Amino acid sequence: MNKRLDLLYEMIPDNGRGVIDVGTDHGQIPIRLAVSGYKGHILASDVAEGPLKTARSAAHIAGVEKRIQFLLCDGLDMCPEEEVSDILIAGMGGDTICGILDRAEWLSSGRYRLILQPMTKPEVVRYWLIHNKFSIDLEAVAREDQHVYQMFRAVPGHSKSMSDAEYLIGSGSVPRRGDKISFVIDQQLRTITKKLNGYPTQKAAESPEYAFYLNMKRELEELKASIQSKEFGNG
Ligand SMILES: C[S@@+](CC[C@H](N)C(=O)[O-])C[C@H]1O[C@@H](n2cnc3c(N)ncnc32)[C@H](O)[C@@H]1O
Repeated sequence: MNKRLDLLYEMIPDNGRGVIDVGTDHGQIPIRLAVSGYKGHILASDVAEGPLKTARSAAHIAGVEKRIQFLLCDGLDMCPEEEVSDILIAGMGGDTICGILDRAEWLSSGRYRLILQPMTKPEVVRYWLIHNKFSIDLEAVAREDQHVYQMFRAVPGHSKSMSDAEYLIGSGSVPRRGDKISFVIDQQLRTITKKLNGYPTQKAAESPEYAFYLNMKRELEELKASIQSKEFGNG
């Protein structure tokens, strides 16, 4: 497994009722759970037949096909609520992840943990969590090739409010694993700088959007300066 999948795997508590990997594709995490002797239910779902078939045959080769329940469905639509405690959704856009979470109203019962790795819009996913009575208890970063992946785990509970920059990169007060947070800050700074550079000079001065991103850029630069002295040899 690559670094991103390793970190996601390590974020799954090993004492839960069960895990569902939504959008499993290759099925690597459910297979690893089964091979490693995870005691709870193991489910793998995908909206497309092809990826689910790939996951099933990989599980067959690993000798754990019978240990995993495969579901062909959109998001959590066919997920048996009683069998899981941990929901993993990785490798999809932030809007898609929020759409999946929104449709599963049973998540509001306070009995589930979410392990999420949005490919886009992490700020939207964090916003969804904070406004749906979840609190982020673990953050992680994986840098692979040209990509920087953010992932986080959320547990039921009230969360303290977050600044705009914290929605983008996660809170500095939450425990972190993996690579340096400065990789994430640099990635977000590049995106914001590109946005700011796209404004015509005369329009920029009176645009509230420009002011918002300029402020965000300052906040990120301050955060970067404040954490740089604390990070050593990590990643
Ligand atoms: C890029 S792959 C990610 C695979 C794996 N989760 C990972 O992180 O490596 C995205 C997978 O999500 C599936 N998918 C996309 N939207 C979905 C949805 N609404 N419900 C279930 N699966 C979905 C796709 O079919 C595809 O197999």
